[in-house]
Amino acid sequence: MKKLAIIPGDGIGPEVIAEGLRVLAWFRTNRGIEFELWQLDLGADRYLRDGTTFPAPVRDEIAASCAAVLLGALGDARVPGFEHARDILFGMRMGFDLYANVRPVRALADSVVPLKGRTARDVDFVVFRENTEGIYAGIGGQLRRGSGDEIAINEDINTRKGVERIIRAAFAYARQSGRRRVLMSDKSNAMRHAHELWQRVFQEVRLDYPEIEASHLYIDALCLELVRDPGQFQVIVTNNLFGDIVTDLGAALQGGMGVAASVSSNPEHPERVKLFEPVHGSAPKLVGRGLANPLATLLCLCLLFEEFGSSAAAQELEGAIRATVESGETTPDLGGSLNTTAVTDAVLARLARGRAA
Ligand code: IPM
Ligand code: MN
Repeated sequence: MKKLAIIPGDGIGPEVIAEGLRVLAWFRTNRGIEFELWQLDLGADRYLRDGTTFPAPVRDEIAASCAAVLLGALGDARVPGFEHARDILFGMRMGFDLYANVRPVRALADSVVPLKGRTARDVDFVVFRENTEGIYAGIGGQLRRGSGDEIAINEDINTRKGVERIIRAAFAYARQSGRRRVLMSDKSNAMRHAHELWQRVFQEVRLDYPEIEASHLYIDALCLELVRDPGQFQVIVTNNLFGDIVTDLGAALQGGMGVAASVSSNPEHPERVKLFEPVHGSAPKLVGRGLANPLATLLCLCLLFEEFGSSAAAQELEGAIRATVESGETTPDLGGSLNTTAVTDAVLARLARGRAA
């Protein structure tokens, strides 16, 4: 049986993960999809209690025995330096070399698309975000800290290997999923050393995918085009930081942070553990009020089912989520008036009745 590590984490993390577990239980009982669940007590509370962030034995056990990790959210005002979250999150993304952070941007209903005159059909693309290097590599330092002459540096790390493998992953995904277009985004007009590498590698890799239309936009222009006409995009590949930023924009196009899901994996080593996480953060203001939208986590379960052998289950769950959103049974962020648990109840009720109901 596949082992799934569960890290509820901070803020609304435990609230949305609890809903995810209810849905997993439904699929276990009704569809025979079984995971061995391994609950991990990691996050700000644990860190503040005993200083633990991401212990090596836990890391090793995840790497050795887990098919996947489901992470709620990390971030807590009591840890302003974010050190526990960095250890846990980057410990998995970078530590397990999960270089492809795949973030589907798909609107579930016309009503949640914020752009005038656009429908859900206009918002359907996938972002491939490089997940192990770039500005996130943590290379840099501070000099003369606190003085009037201080210097703060973060280096943008772009390796040939890192750039090539994420670009290849995007093209391979386009081919395998029947998409016709891949767009690479960088800022090579300003960052000419680092991003000229992206340009060159992109031109090289595209030759292996002659049937795919390859194009390029600088990241600023991409932001503009995403708002102006999102329907033109199918697959977008970009670096770690730009991928982070552009997927928040993408989340807005699909209805908000409450419905954005992601999976991080290593396509060169598909047997390696995969990390599923909602794109949203720990949202401290929503904690304990029933306002957290569980759908991003439930959409992570769709991605999880897709990866682990049950496309039918993924479609069934997504259908139920879609129908729930279409009928307005949502939390307030999507315009509804239900609380976190009631939204999951609505999804479960649809699953029980069959998706068309
Ligand atoms: C995300 C988040 C993280 C990131 C933060 C929490 C470090 O914004 O997953 O998009 O920047 O990658
Ligand atoms: Mn982000």
